[in-house]
Amino acid sequence: MEPLKIGVAGLGTVAGGVVALLQRNAETLARKAGRPLALVRVASRSPKRGIDLGGAAFTTDLDALHGPDIDVVVELIGGEQRAAQLVRRALQGGQAVVTANKAILARYGDELLSLARAQGVGLGFEAAVAGGVPIIGALRQGLAANRVLTVAGIVNGTSNYILTAMAEQGAAFAEALAQAQAQGFAEADPAYDVEGIDAAHKLTILAALAFDMSFQFDKVYTEGISRITEEDLDYAKELGYRIKHLAIARRTEQGVEARVHPTLVPQRSLLAGVGGVMNAVWVEGDAVGATLHYGAGAGAMPTASAVVSDLIAIARGGALDYPVGRRPHKVLSIEQATCAYYVRIPSLDAPGVFAEVAATLGRHGISIEGAIQRHRAVRSGAGSGSWVPIVILTASVREQTMTSALAQVQRMPQVVGGIASIRVEHLMG
Ligand code: HSE
Repeated sequence: MEPLKIGVAGLGTVAGGVVALLQRNAETLARKAGRPLALVRVASRSPKRGIDLGGAAFTTDLDALHGPDIDVVVELIGGEQRAAQLVRRALQGGQAVVTANKAILARYGDELLSLARAQGVGLGFEAAVAGGVPIIGALRQGLAANRVLTVAGIVNGTSNYILTAMAEQGAAFAEALAQAQAQGFAEADPAYDVEGIDAAHKLTILAALAFDMSFQFDKVYTEGISRITEEDLDYAKELGYRIKHLAIARRTEQGVEARVHPTLVPQRSLLAGVGGVMNAVWVEGDAVGATLHYGAGAGAMPTASAVVSDLIAIARGGALDYPVGRRPHKVLSIEQATCAYYVRIPSLDAPGVFAEVAATLGRHGISIEGAIQRHRAVRSGAGSGSWVPIVILTASVREQTMTSALAQVQRMPQVVGGIASIRVEHLMG
């Protein structure tokens, strides 16, 4: 059989993994693909590192990947504009593409998938979401019979590592971030991890596949973990919860909720047990019920596992195709979303404060499901007396209602500091 001729763009961590995996498992891969997977050329703008390319040619000219001697371009250079240009040019020239680039899919997914379809070539992006976890294949194929109701994932290993280290070892935020960066998982710009942008890219892709909808990155509500304090992690634990950074897409009658934010999840839920840099994606379908897909969300070999699985699909011929006519489902604003809340209110240690807070929430139709009020008073600084945090868990409520209730509580003279609120999801299978 004619080999599948592969050109790789980039020679960073993931590319190194792909090159190694193609060599290590060459025989098995050829059998599964029905023909050899032949690495013909590697192009990287920076000079070749000491990596064994197994006989493939090396060039610093990325354009050298476009031509009849390459069937499929594997884009692993990262970034946005140059990577998108490389992918477009490959597809326009009739080359299949495999990419791990979540940013270009989130921003240009509709255009790139249409282009691939028009050209009759495959576009694989299994590696773009949750690294080695085969969630794209699961949504595209294994769960295709379902009407998906909810997708909720821990899809940023760096944020998960930080929250786990803060909750379990009492590590400070900056210290935990430095540890995660040392593990090689973090994005070049740490804001992409800790401010939730990376997770929002991934959620855009998940929602597009789960709900057969257009890629709407600009509509995803995005909040990172940088405001989570050790105090909130402790209270959450006391209430029987863990704080996780979740990317959530949910089908509702009014439209699709698409939001990325820190979230309290019950301690006994499976997602609460996903620690360190691991990823997991929960998918709930009308036929299958709840499913959970867990594994390494980044790293050389896990991500290479996803890239090479796309290469096998392409080698088998035309398997990487997606439904046409994605629908422009309405994405709801965060004010229209509905969920339960954890609220921490720093208040004066005086009689009647809790009752007044409860009454304000009650007037807004918000029901209280649980509460903690520490007896230990905390000194808040000169002049403002001693105060205690009132911690409340509410039932589900529209965000808009919660925001106006909390604005009213914040104006109470007994409330001595900024109120912290974190959304809560139950996600039990
Ligand atoms: N920075 C990402 C993470 C890498 O921490 O999960 C994988 O996309």
